[in-house]
Amino acid sequence: MRDHDLVFMKNFAQVIAGLVLITVVLILAGIYFNGKRPAEVTPAQQAATQARIAPAGAVYAGQTGAAAQAAAVAAAAEAAKGQVAYGGTLDGGEIYGQLCAGCHTSGAAGAPKLLKAEWGARLAQGNDLLHKHAIEGIRAMPARGGNPSLTDEQVIATVDWMIGNLK
Ligand code: HEC
Repeated sequence: MRDHDLVFMKNFAQVIAGLVLITVVLILAGIYFNGKRPAEVTPAQQAATQARIAPAGAVYAGQTGAAAQAAAVAAAAEAAKGQVAYGGTLDGGEIYGQLCAGCHTSGAAGAPKLLKAEWGARLAQGNDLLHKHAIEGIRAMPARGGNPSLTDEQVIATVDWMIGNLK
């Protein structure tokens, strides 16, 4: 080979080496910048985030607000209906302890305590009417003691338990 061929080979080799270096640098830069991108958010993660940051309550104002509030209360009652209260127990004593005692043991809001003296006139109405009043509510006595997920049978069992445990 002649001299200028050697010079060409040398320069050419340097150019190739330079290009290889640039390629490697670009690949490394690509990997580096790809790592900087935020991870993709899956729909499930997004839903979880939305659920976490959702407001705990809602503000209702004006006429539309009143309607929205009524709808929310109705929806909550509807949802509660589907649930089984206190594991579906028909043990009146247990339901009484969990719910009714809140008013009927202390006499809160004028609730009759479990004393014969406070039930005379009520018992005279007959048990059917007592059941009905406990299920539908009467004056300060909320329907189903305030738990709409109680079944009729559960309320009746609880009323019967109360009647049987008057002192
Ligand atoms: C928020 C308080 C409260 C809770 C909770 C409550 N009661 Fe009452 N209950 C009352 C009040 C007040 C009365 C009296 C209503 C009246 O006659 O003016 C009453 C009355 C009754 C009566 C008599 C109704 C009548 O016709 O005289 C029965 C029966 C009764 N409650 C059953 C229950 C049962 C069963 C539960 C639980 C499932 C329960 N209550 C939970 C407040 C409550």
